[in-house]
Amino acid sequence: MPNVKIRISGRDSAYKIKIGSGILSDVGPWAAAALKRDCGRIVIVSNPTVFQLYGETVDRSLTAAGFTVSRFLMKDGEIHKSFKTAEAALSAFSEAGMTRTDAVVALGGGVVGDLAGFAAAMFLRGIAFLQVPTSLLAMIDSSVGGKTGVNTAFGKNLVGAFHQPAGVLIDVETLATLPRRELTAGLCEMVKHAAISGRPLLERTNNFLGPEFDISNLRYQIGDGVNPLKSKEKVKFSKIKDQSSKVKNLVDLISENVAFKAKIVAGDERESSKRMDGRSRKVLNFGHTLAHALEKVTEYKYFKHGEAVGYGVLFAAELSKSLALCDENVVKSLNDVVQRVGILPVLGNIDGNEVLEAFKFDKKHISGSLQMILLKAIGKPVILTEKDIPRATVQKVLKKLLQKWA
Ligand code: NAD
Ligand code: GLY
Repeated sequence: MPNVKIRISGRDSAYKIKIGSGILSDVGPWAAAALKRDCGRIVIVSNPTVFQLYGETVDRSLTAAGFTVSRFLMKDGEIHKSFKTAEAALSAFSEAGMTRTDAVVALGGGVVGDLAGFAAAMFLRGIAFLQVPTSLLAMIDSSVGGKTGVNTAFGKNLVGAFHQPAGVLIDVETLATLPRRELTAGLCEMVKHAAISGRPLLERTNNFLGPEFDISNLRYQIGDGVNPLKSKEKVKFSKIKDQSSKVKNLVDLISENVAFKAKIVAGDERESSKRMDGRSRKVLNFGHTLAHALEKVTEYKYFKHGEAVGYGVLFAAELSKSLALCDENVVKSLNDVVQRVGILPVLGNIDGNEVLEAFKFDKKHISGSLQMILLKAIGKPVILTEKDIPRATVQKVLKKLLQKWA
């Protein structure tokens, strides 16, 4: 079975990311090695959806490795990535008798990972945590890089801490149970990475998706009328489990995404506000200006974050072309690949003026001016501030695309 190890090294931290298929039951010995110190207790932070699928395997393996294991299960859903839940997690850590040498294991998607990491950052002013991501988005993005946090009444992800995990273990077999929409959302974040990384990763993403995105001969294709908002379809991983080359391709693709993110993070761990170059951590927010605005105007109820990023990537590419930063090929390449990640929810009732207004709340405001990540070419992101981008051009591009996607 493929088993890839990536080392992320930063100013304050270095940790390994282990990626493979069927490796979840190795979590105990892996955790013991990653923690490298006298850690006796572990609290698994998860949610009931994920824990009922994978919790026992993780608990058993950690217990067999000598840890005293307890659990904190938060409710499932973005709305529960809150201070209230973080406070409940901290109480659970205290009740479990956690000390400064003990650790948290985050088992789940990005919501669980962000919350567990934030609680670990706060408890006793910082204890170790390990990421065991189970959604595609968490595997390639949120579990790597140390951004942790919660949502508040004044905005999403505006409160948090940089707290790097002590290690990340990615078992791609857990994707077997991931709902189809969540897979599409993760694939959109893959496209984001490919767009800012370069043609080789874009090509490999394309090859993986195949001409009709046939990860497992999924029944529906773009435009076949299935409403993804109602779909509960799972990835038919059992079918591809036997196709070792397909599993290897998936492990390889996830590894390349993780390696790319790790490299950017290692070069700019805390996302320096001063940096404006193409390898600043800010570029990982490619596609996020429109994505965050779409999420905000739909009150975070309509889109999966990754789906909104799918639209955001296409908007940023089109805007880049309108500003003569890149040519039509860039727009075409990204449209081609986004079309094959799955179905994105329609944008029928979304008001362009509200979207423009929502840009004001974007986190990428520095000194009162919005910064946008655009593209000179695939793999060549640029950071521009509002004053370099005529508002009329933004309005025109947005209007055109909202009509196209309605
Ligand atoms: P999520 O954590 O809500 O998971 C999506 C759904 O899939 C949930 O219902 C979850 O229970 C379920 N699930 C997860 N793994 C499963 C599995 N293997 N089988 C069945 N169901 C499974 O959403 P997400 O897309 O994983 O993460 C989104 C969150 O990540 C957002 O809060 C976003 O802000 C955050 N994020 C953080 C970073 C970062 O750098 N920290 C980066 C990107 C996104
Ligand atoms: N997901 C953006 C970052 O980690 O910086």
